[in-house]
Amino acid sequence: MIKMRPSKLSLVSVILSVLLFSQCVLSQLQVGFYKDTCRLVEFIVKEEVVKAIIKDRGLAAALMRMHFHDCFVRGCDASILLDSTPSSIAEKDSFANNPSLRGYEVIDNAKARLEVVCKGVVSCADIVAFAARDSIEMAGGLGYDVPAGRRDGRTSLASEIIGNLPPPTFNVDQLTQMFANKGFTQEEMVTLSGGHTLGRSHCSSFSDRLYNFSGTLKQDASLDPTYAAKLKQQCPQGSMDPNVVVPMTSTPSIADAGYYIDILANRGLFTSDHTLLTSPATANQVAENAKNPIQWKAKFAAAMVKMGQLDVLTGSEGEIRANCRVIKS
Ligand code: HEM
Ligand SMILES: *[C@@H]1O[C@H](CO)[C@@H](O)[C@H](O)[C@H]1NC(C)=O
Repeated sequence: MIKMRPSKLSLVSVILSVLLFSQCVLSQLQVGFYKDTCRLVEFIVKEEVVKAIIKDRGLAAALMRMHFHDCFVRGCDASILLDSTPSSIAEKDSFANNPSLRGYEVIDNAKARLEVVCKGVVSCADIVAFAARDSIEMAGGLGYDVPAGRRDGRTSLASEIIGNLPPPTFNVDQLTQMFANKGFTQEEMVTLSGGHTLGRSHCSSFSDRLYNFSGTLKQDASLDPTYAAKLKQQCPQGSMDPNVVVPMTSTPSIADAGYYIDILANRGLFTSDHTLLTSPATANQVAENAKNPIQWKAKFAAAMVKMGQLDVLTGSEGEIRANCRVIKS
């Protein structure tokens, strides 16, 4: 009996350390990660975000989308911020981000201030995560604590967009699959799609629905005709003017879940929005979110926290960049 105690003990300690280890893997990030090293970080980021959004309301949408595009490609590692180099085209110069993704200068401004007060401490990936949260709050969404401690990656490849970021032509099964690949349920996919309650789009992302749906040279019959007529005015056939943009919903505030109300009225802008009506489960969630915006806002905040943990680098992985656009040499 006595002889067995040490082995029992070590078994217990093995189980315990496995449990503790898996806890760490589940949440390697911590709320208040910078409390001893850069106490003002969240205050400074928020100040820059608020300043930018007051000047240009659209930046709330932009910064929220930036976090999504960062996290779905190589995890939340600020790969979205790296500039292309002579030998490699970066994510930001892929068709999915250029010219549509904006707000990089807001992150640069926050980073510049942080380098003055706590040099080399705060990752660009964490700044993007804080800025997305602040943007959601500014746009009428629910605030949430952002677990931090992400490190910055050293690679950004435009070629990694396909297969990781969904195109606007995806149907519900394709969206469900792509979000499942990232660990999200179908319901979380519907919840996160509500990000399209903010912002705008270029004509090229939906003009096939107006003029050549599925190669038929006809309009997508599922689009509300009045809405389609209005979109055609804004986006004449063949015009791919990068300066023309169309609002995503009629009421660009997170407060009202207007995205889901629009979808129910066949006024979802992309195929990937409208398609949520084509399966019973997702159609139910659309109706539920339209009816209950407060519940949706809470689900959205939780899903953003989860998204912010995707494939993060922590500890001694990656690096802390000095300039968010370039890796350290
Ligand atoms: C579900 C799959 C998704 C697809 C297929 C998709 C696709 C797109 C496309 C094509 C645009 C317009 C780009 C342009 O032409 O200007 C766009 C914009 C936008 N997306 Fe998504 N997206 C998805 C999910 C999300 C998620 C999860 C979020 C955030 C949580 C998000 C936030 C936004 C925002 C805010 C904009 C407007 C950006 C601006 O005004 O600058 N999207 N999206
Ligand atoms: C319509 O779409 C089909 C297939 O997507 C394409 O092959 C064709 O060239 C398009 N026609 C026009 C006029 O854009």
